[in-house]
Amino acid sequence: MCGIVGYVGKDKCIPRILSGLESLEYRGYDSAGIAYVVNNLVKITKKQGRISNLKENINIDEESYVGIGHTRWATHGKPCQVNSHPHRVGKVTIVHNGIIENYETLKNELSDYDFVSETDSEVVAALVDKLYKEEKDVKHVLAKLKDYLIGSYALGILIEGDDKIYAIRKDSPLIIGVSENGNFIASDVPAILEYTNLYYLILNNEFAVLSKDDVVIYDENGQISTKNLLTFEGSREAAMKNGYEHYMLKEIYEQPKVIMDTIKEYISDVDTLKEKMNGLEKYEEIDIVGCGSAYHVGLVGKSLIEKYGHIRVNVDIASEYRYSDHIYKDNHLVLVISQSGETADTLAVLRKAKEDGIDTLAIVNVVGSSIAREADKVLYIKAGVEIAVATTKAYSCQLIMLSMIAMYLGINSGRLDESIFEEYKSLDKLINDILDDTSDTESVAAMIYKNKDVFYLGRKIDYAICMESSLKLKEVSYLHSEAYAAGELKHGTISLIESGTPVISIITEDDIRLKTLSNVKEVCARGALSIVITNEEVLDKDVYDKLILVPKLHDLVGSILVVIKCQLIAYYVAKLNGCDIDKPRNLAKSVTVE
Ligand code: F6R
Repeated sequence: MCGIVGYVGKDKCIPRILSGLESLEYRGYDSAGIAYVVNNLVKITKKQGRISNLKENINIDEESYVGIGHTRWATHGKPCQVNSHPHRVGKVTIVHNGIIENYETLKNELSDYDFVSETDSEVVAALVDKLYKEEKDVKHVLAKLKDYLIGSYALGILIEGDDKIYAIRKDSPLIIGVSENGNFIASDVPAILEYTNLYYLILNNEFAVLSKDDVVIYDENGQISTKNLLTFEGSREAAMKNGYEHYMLKEIYEQPKVIMDTIKEYISDVDTLKEKMNGLEKYEEIDIVGCGSAYHVGLVGKSLIEKYGHIRVNVDIASEYRYSDHIYKDNHLVLVISQSGETADTLAVLRKAKEDGIDTLAIVNVVGSSIAREADKVLYIKAGVEIAVATTKAYSCQLIMLSMIAMYLGINSGRLDESIFEEYKSLDKLINDILDDTSDTESVAAMIYKNKDVFYLGRKIDYAICMESSLKLKEVSYLHSEAYAAGELKHGTISLIESGTPVISIITEDDIRLKTLSNVKEVCARGALSIVITNEEVLDKDVYDKLILVPKLHDLVGSILVVIKCQLIAYYVAKLNGCDIDKPRNLAKSVTVE
C-alpha cells in the first residue's frame, strides 16, 4: 500500500527516486510524486496515474541532491492530483505509507491549518510542522510522534532550509539503504538495488536522519541505536523482468527453482526436517490464518495436515479471525501465512494470539518483515522477490511448506516413512515439463476469454485449488469467476449455468474422482463448456470439451502441477483481454491497511 523512496547524496536525486519508485509501483499506482530540494527550497512535482506520467512531467536533470518520492494506493480521498503525495504544510513536506486512524481528531485539533486534500497524510504534515515550531529540532518531534499518531506509518520528511531526510516507521515497512555516493530510504529493498544492496532494517518507532554521507538511527526514546548493516542476498536481476513480457510470467517460470530451493532448505535429510519442524507434533489443534491466496493455501494445508498429521486444523480469513471469539486447546498453535509478512490483518491476528498466550508460527517470504520478526517461530519459504501483484511462486512455495509440515507430522506419527522424500525430488523436472508446453492452457484461454463468467468445480484439495485459481483469473483478467465445491453447485448456483458457460473442473483425488465427474456431467447436461484438469485419463468423452492431463503424483505434492496450469490459464486470458497483468486495477501488492 503505497511506496516511499528518498535519496540524499552526491548524485542527482530525481533519477534515483524515479527508478526506486518504478520498482515499488507494485505497492500502488494511483498517483506518483517527488519533493526535491533546489537552492534550499523544496519543490514538488506530482501527477495522477502511473510513474510514467510523472516521468514525462518532471525535469530529470534538475540540480537536486536530496528528495523524497511516493507512489500511491488511495485510501483517504480519491486518486487525484491534490490527494497525491508529497504533501507540504508550512516548512514540512512528507511522503507517507500507512493509515492514520485518528486523523479526524487531529485535524480538528490542528484547526489553525488550512487543509487542501482529503488525506490523513496531510494531517501528519501539519502535525509535524506544529511540533517542529514548538521543539525546533526534528529529532525531538520524531521521538514524540508516537504519542500523537494512532495507526500505521512510514514517513519520509523534508524540512525547508535543511538538506537532510528524516524517516520514521510504525507498522509500515521501511529500510535505509547505504552506498558510497549517498543514502536511501525505501519501503522495500528492490527500490535501492540499482545502487546498493546494503541496508538497515528500521523497527517500530525507530527513526533515522540521513545526510549525504551519514545515517544515524535512533531508538524510540531518541537514543542513538547501533544496527547491523544487512546485505540483500538476491541479485537485482532476480527482481527484474529478465526478458519476460510480464513479472507474472517470469514468476510462474521461476517456480521449479524456488520450489526446489524451499524443499532443499527443509528436507536435505531427515535430521534437517526434524530440526526445522521439531515440536509441531505437540499441538492438538492448529488455526491457520491468512488473506487471499494465503488463506486458500491454508485450506490445502488443512487437508494434508489432518490426513497425515491427524491434528485438527481450522482455517480462517485474517480479517474475520481477528474479530472472532476463539476457544483454544491447551496445546494450540496459530499458524499465520503471509508472503509479504506485512499484511495488516494477518499481523493483527499474530499479535492477538501472542497476547492471548498462544504459540505462533509464521510461514513468510520476506526476511525480516514484521510478521517474521514477531512470530515465535518462522518457516521461511524461498520464493525470492515477488513483484507481480498476483502471487504465483510464493503461493506454490507456501503450498510446499504446508505439505512438508504434513509430511513431517506423518513421519513423526509413523503414517509415512522417509521414502516419501523421493516424491519431492523430481518436482522441478515435472513443473518444467508443464512450462515447456503451454499450448493446452493457451487454447483454454482462447476458449474462455470472451465469456462473462467462469466456474471452477472441485472437492477437498481440488476445491481449495479451485478457489485460488478462480481468484487468480478474476484478479488479473477481470473475468467474473466463482469456485464451487462440486457437490454444492446444485443447491443454487447451477441456475447460472447456461449454454456455453465455461466450467473448469479439477479432479486429482481418487476417492472423489467419480463423485466430481458426476457433477461435471450435471453441468454438461445444462450446456456448459467443460474443461477438465485431471491426473487420469477420462474415458467418458462426453464430460469435457477440453481435457488437460497432468502427471499423477502423491497427494502431498500433486496439486502443485494443477495450480501452475491454472496460473497459466489466468495469465493467458488476461493477455488476450489486454489487461495490465502485473498491476491489475484497484490492487496493491502489500496490503498494510485493514
Ligand atoms: C492474490 C494475492 C493476495 C495475497 C494477500 C495476502 O494473488 O496476492 O490475495 O495473497 O493479499 O498477502 P500476503 O501473503 O503478503 O499476506
